[in-house]
Amino acid sequence: MLNGKRILLIVSGGIAAYKSLELVRRLRGRGASVRCVLTGAGARFVTPLSLQALSEDRVYSDMFSLTDESEMGHIQLSRDADLLVVAPATANLLARMAAGMADDLAATVLLATDKPVLAAPAMNVRMWTHAATAANVETLRKRGVAFVGPNEGAMACNEFGPGRMAEPDEIVAAIETMLVPRQRPLAGKRAVVTSGPTREAIDPVRYISNHSSGKQGHAIAAALAKLGADVTLVSGPVALADPPGLRTVKVESAEEMLRASLAAGNVDIAVCAAAVADWKVVHPAAGKMKKKAGAPPPQIELAPNPDILATLSRPGPQRPALVVGFAAETENLVANAIEKRQRKGCDWIVANDVSPSTGTFGGERNTVHLISASGVEDWPTLAKEDVALRLAARIALHFSGPPKAEAAE
Ligand code: C5P
Repeated sequence: MLNGKRILLIVSGGIAAYKSLELVRRLRGRGASVRCVLTGAGARFVTPLSLQALSEDRVYSDMFSLTDESEMGHIQLSRDADLLVVAPATANLLARMAAGMADDLAATVLLATDKPVLAAPAMNVRMWTHAATAANVETLRKRGVAFVGPNEGAMACNEFGPGRMAEPDEIVAAIETMLVPRQRPLAGKRAVVTSGPTREAIDPVRYISNHSSGKQGHAIAAALAKLGADVTLVSGPVALADPPGLRTVKVESAEEMLRASLAAGNVDIAVCAAAVADWKVVHPAAGKMKKKAGAPPPQIELAPNPDILATLSRPGPQRPALVVGFAAETENLVANAIEKRQRKGCDWIVANDVSPSTGTFGGERNTVHLISASGVEDWPTLAKEDVALRLAARIALHFSGPPKAEAAE
């Protein structure tokens, strides 16, 4: 929570400014007070009136306003906050910050402040990757400015790549990390995470399995542990190191995975990220099955595996407060995932497209949609670690209660 924290939000001119309105609501919902500085270009995208209504404070935009200066001088404005947040931070404003300019109220306040600064860049992908912007960001980083985003994804200018402003939730999480250092919002919570494939033995040397690398599940377990949760990671066979700061239980088959997940005991959070084989072999051979010349191939009888996600989701006193499943689909992704959430009885589904063209299986990045009772959120393409951090932050937010602004809707 951000109770009593004072945020000075500087809104510069980019299409992402509309998200800053939501950011004000979220911050206020978390107990922070927000005062806004709006640049001239920013005012082309959002109105002072909107910011004023949402922040319930006056909005500052003119450096030479006698009234503003008599009520609150720009130096005081820059100091009278716990944190300055620049969202969106345009290429132009970042350049002016890096150059130490003071040519409008926003730049002056940023130059005069003695408080930490967080910037959420938003710009066209070519502007973000331009050497000038990269150098400005590097300069600002060296001076201690923190950055959140930009994310990769489709842009208003019809291009694709990094440049989208971080989502309000991510900015809130970054603010909380800065203002409440070493915050472990999931301390005291217990979690079980399943990850990787399962192996269903046909005989001692053969098995049925799949291409799951376990990268996403392992990253989620690590992210939950980072936020303070006591995590048991139940992992099928993977080529990954055990993440630090948590307990890893290694299993082979779906049945072992289910037993180990239940043995983790009463947990608050269950995340089923494993790619569990749907079928097991009814009678695995005790010895290696032999090829016999002229004999037909063996008939392998299969039976369904237990559904770990559905089992953990079953109502009852043992049910974790939050059960999250995954839906890996190649078509009708969101519709299938919505149906899966209901069928399995879990609370959230993280839906990802695993068509071979996406490179999700075994790859480093993932494009997911978060499906809950309140709807579908489309997340930008992120590194699997970032999907994990964002999911862990969302889980933490879930347990700390909905932001007041959301509840008021
Ligand atoms: O039914 P489907 O395999 O598409 O569902 C995927 C979700 O269900 C994932 O969260 C996966 O970990 C979980 N699952 C499971 N046990 C199974 C099959 C799937 O926990 N036997």
